[in-house]
Amino acid sequence: MNICIIGAGYVGLTTSAALAEFGHLIHCVDINSEKIQKLQNGNVPIYEPQLKELICKNSDKITFSTNLPDSIQKCTVIFVTVGTPGLTDGSTDLSFLQSVFTTIAQHLQSYKTIIIKSTVPPGTNQKMHQYLLAKGVSPFMYNIVSNPEFLREGSAINDMFHPDRTVIGIAEDDKRSEVIIRDIYQSLSSPFIVTSWNGAEMIKYASNAFLATKISFINEIARVCDFYGADVLDVAKGLGADPRIGPLFLQAGIGYGGSCFPKDLQALQHIAAAKLVKTPILDAVHEVNSTQLEWYIKKLQEELPSIQDKKVTVLGIAFKPNTDDIRHSPAIALIQKLHSLGADVHTYDPKASLPADLRHIAIQHKSLKSSYIDSEAVIIATDWPEICQLDWKHVQAHIKGNLILDGRNCINREEVLRFGLNYKGVGRG
Ligand code: UDX
Ligand code: UDX
Repeated sequence: MNICIIGAGYVGLTTSAALAEFGHLIHCVDINSEKIQKLQNGNVPIYEPQLKELICKNSDKITFSTNLPDSIQKCTVIFVTVGTPGLTDGSTDLSFLQSVFTTIAQHLQSYKTIIIKSTVPPGTNQKMHQYLLAKGVSPFMYNIVSNPEFLREGSAINDMFHPDRTVIGIAEDDKRSEVIIRDIYQSLSSPFIVTSWNGAEMIKYASNAFLATKISFINEIARVCDFYGADVLDVAKGLGADPRIGPLFLQAGIGYGGSCFPKDLQALQHIAAAKLVKTPILDAVHEVNSTQLEWYIKKLQEELPSIQDKKVTVLGIAFKPNTDDIRHSPAIALIQKLHSLGADVHTYDPKASLPADLRHIAIQHKSLKSSYIDSEAVIIATDWPEICQLDWKHVQAHIKGNLILDGRNCINREEVLRFGLNYKGVGRG
């Protein structure tokens, strides 16, 4: 099948690589010509494990271009994977999606299945349908399908091949699209959940909101654990052993970040408020997350009452391991906070970089070992394997102070203590 994928971002590239591996011919389009040029030259502009390899392996089945009209003509199926960022009032910026539909409306000459993969608020698929009709496009020329993505950065390729479910939202009178989608994804063995447009859109928001709730819940429990000498790792283990709860997404830390949870939670609050529905649970999830870093910094301040001009090392810049994505990264918020407190901040990340406008507030080292030399404190902000497996003997021999703040509860506390270092985790007494 000839498939057009609009938006060569984290989701669009992963989808392109996986669908090519399934045997489809992919026409991946982006408005960013620099990005497309890189891709045409065999360079993948983002770091996502296995992505580059999979794109290279399928290079005969993937073309990259900026020519959207041309790709629309060539393909019967169009995936829309452009970004849908949050706006300051919590609503979703649908301008990229809108602009894609404007181009589709102008160039649609034969029947297309238009699949919206980007995360969009309930009502958006309907809105795009109304838009095409208003532009004079015949309703017999297309069907719109909502097919939200559940890809975790860092394991997106694996998630693409082994999804827990494939959600599709279709219009009531649409008899064609389910067959087409099942055909596209025929290599997958996961169940299909077929619902309405709004149902599919809500499944995406509810899923991310629930996962964010689990994280804020365990972070709140961690705060209580601290005062009662209980270890939140044991609590999470005991809690997660109940299959009704499950063990995943119960890792306490300095809060969730990334391009999805913060914006999707806010979007859900926003769409509920628009209908005068109160969201006390979502409000609390946001409240815990937005104060988690502040709460953790107090631990640093208890140990180092004045950090003015003190050298402090933050390990990790990305919002989570195995990605170079820094969107809404708690690590960056931590670096900014330490800088505002007057600390001399040093940092290291295996793949992510400080954005250009923040390079003056911290020194980013090229090697893990050089980043903590003579530091008063080392703070773990992202649980990269390389950071979790730090050589504590080397750390102990090279740092000035002895404080290790494990902001992701990912290092071996006993090992750290064995070298005479002072360990402070999240909710670990
Ligand atoms: C995706 C989803 O699309 C988003 O809705 C979801 O919530 C998170 O995951 P992501 O892949 O992370 O977004 O976005 P990003 O990496 O920003 O890539 C979007 C791409 O779309 C960019 O390369 C941008 O240049 C491109 N784009 C944007 C277009 O090609 N056309 C446009 O009109 C606008
Ligand atoms: C998320 C969803 O998991 C995915 O299904 C959706 O499609 C896109 O959004 P992603 O943002 O890539 O994926 O990362 P995820 O693994 O969900 O982590 C999000 C944030 O939560 C990270 O900052 C991570 O460090 C944090 N987190 C995660 C915790 O603090 N504790 C946990 O137990 C799990």
